[in-house]
Amino acid sequence: MTDSPQAGTEEFASGERLSMGIDPYERNWMRLSVAMLIGFFTIVTIAGFAMGIQVPGAESEVDPRNVMDTEPWASPGLREVSDGVYEAYIIAQAWSFSPREIEVPVGSKVTIYVTSPDLQHGFKITDTNVNMMVVPGQVSKLEFTFDTVGEFPYICHEYCGKGHATMFGTVTVVDAGGGESAAGTEINEGVDE
Ligand code: CUA
Repeated sequence: MTDSPQAGTEEFASGERLSMGIDPYERNWMRLSVAMLIGFFTIVTIAGFAMGIQVPGAESEVDPRNVMDTEPWASPGLREVSDGVYEAYIIAQAWSFSPREIEVPVGSKVTIYVTSPDLQHGFKITDTNVNMMVVPGQVSKLEFTFDTVGEFPYICHEYCGKGHATMFGTVTVVDAGGGESAAGTEINEGVDE
């Protein structure tokens, strides 16, 4: 890259490796790298300890071997907590989601819980900021308010094996005005294979 040797670095011209004399350009990149590492470490420390920002999954734990026998996971699906407030329990397993369909009236505030009995999966709802890693034994949790009528597919976005691409489902947000029955419908699919 550098054709002409710099002052005091004869070895460079002869093709030998420099041991102590580091090219200034390279030295600056090393300094920048170290500064960035210190910066990142500082940010992560402040975020984790001072601001309490934790990865999804710190919420709670469940024995991955007994997920299917543990309430509420034994009957995954949507539950209405109060008017317009829901909880959705979703199991991500190789290679499907249970349930595959969730229907809520527009404006619903849904707390989404996802866990996995087997592999590491992902849970992402298209066109929303719901995006979680799903780790066996951990419960990932996010809250989202569905303000727009429409269909919002959810997918596994962590590669989990040959059936990865078959892991998807849909959140259908229906018009609350015409959907009185929909609002009261308990979608509780359970095992649906
Ligand atoms: Cu589950 Cu990819």
